[in-house]
Amino acid sequence: MKDTCRLFTDLAWLWPLWGDAAVEYAHYCRHVAALVDQHSTRPAATLLNIGCGGGKNAFNLERRFDVTGVDLSPEMLAQAGRLNPGCSFVLGDVRTFRLGRTFDAVLMDYAISWMRDRCDLGAAFRTAHAHLAPGGVLIVTPDATVETFEQGRTTATRATRMEHGQALDVVFIENVHDPDPTDEQYEATVVYLIRDHGRLRVETDHWTLGLFALDTWREVLRETGFEVHESRYIAGDDAYTTFACVKPR
Ligand SMILES: C[S@@+](CC[C@H](N)C(=O)[O-])C[C@H]1O[C@@H](n2cnc3c(N)ncnc32)[C@H](O)[C@@H]1O
Repeated sequence: MKDTCRLFTDLAWLWPLWGDAAVEYAHYCRHVAALVDQHSTRPAATLLNIGCGGGKNAFNLERRFDVTGVDLSPEMLAQAGRLNPGCSFVLGDVRTFRLGRTFDAVLMDYAISWMRDRCDLGAAFRTAHAHLAPGGVLIVTPDATVETFEQGRTTATRATRMEHGQALDVVFIENVHDPDPTDEQYEATVVYLIRDHGRLRVETDHWTLGLFALDTWREVLRETGFEVHESRYIAGDDAYTTFACVKPR
């Protein structure tokens, strides 16, 4: 099936409905800020949010840091700008962009999931390294790893918003599948049930994402030049490994 990534292009207007910026993202951002405080060996005032998407993490981090966001999608960046008028947002590919300046901290967002081989994973970490000041910290939390991946896991999330007195009701159904466990990729297929002003639209989306063992993450981060620390992030029933990676002075 062809990759479509419609959630970041023609269906990007649905993104604000998928996950509450002020609740789910706030919880994760407190974890991020605590890790920066724990591991940074420099005062942390500026943060680069790589793969910032619609800016929900930036919204929460902005209270604590001067935030700059980078993303590949102009549609998502437009949303990020509306949600966070006080932050700067720049168009760029996580693997290649260079802003010509450094930050005290870097949050590598969910965009890292689109790194589909070690070569891309290494390129993304080199981008983070190039934008960190010595003593600064990169925070990255793999969404799926070989150790936690659940073949066929299917989730459904519903969100409703009132618009001009009418309900916009969207159900997001996401299914993950790994067709070849010997490679480093898996597929996510999403069905969107969009009830807009009483009419049902059914849309589909398909993403190919990277799937690496935790040892691969550790190895590629160390090869990039980071000193790697690990902690757990618990969100509801799910537990994730977070890497706090210090750029040595
Ligand atoms: C799920 S969204 C992230 C949303 C974000 N957590 C927020 O706070 O709103 C994933 C983002 O990764 C971005 N992305 C995917 N591949 C990328 C790449 N190679 N470079 C930069 N951004 C990329 C997509 O454009 C998308 O906006």
